[in-house]
Amino acid sequence: MRNPTTALLLLLAIPACAAAADAAEGKRLVEANRCENCHHNVTMGGAKAVYLRKDRRVTTMEKLVSQVSVCNSQLKQQLFPEDEEHIVAYLNQAYYHFPAKK
Ligand code: HEC
Repeated sequence: MRNPTTALLLLLAIPACAAAADAAEGKRLVEANRCENCHHNVTMGGAKAVYLRKDRRVTTMEKLVSQVSVCNSQLKQQLFPEDEEHIVAYLNQAYYHFPAKK
């Protein structure tokens, strides 16, 4: 996290995101944007291995939000912020299982 203000803003944004996020739409976006092709080249362990590896990066909801954003920039798909929210919801539901914030 670059500065504490960014961290705080992210934390404040999460509850608002959770209400609108749609995990089914997130799944579709992950598949449509071929996120997992690139991850397979990183892990050599199949499409899902990057999320489930022992030394995975994402250990909090906040890190999940920022990693999805980093990867979105790498992909240059210019997903909208609400697309990132859907993707976060999907990945959390399918793999990470962080407690839902209300
Ligand atoms: C250009 C290649 C590339 C693309 C495309 C890409 N990623 Fe990634 N992604 C990576 C790499 C490399 C890592 C591992 C980063 C590390 O270990 O430091 C990663 C890690 C992640 C992680 C964290 C996994 C963990 O360790 O817990 C998530 C979540 C993620 N990507 C989501 C996405 C999503 C969603 C998309 C599609 C919108 C996407 N990525 C597209 C390269 C990519």
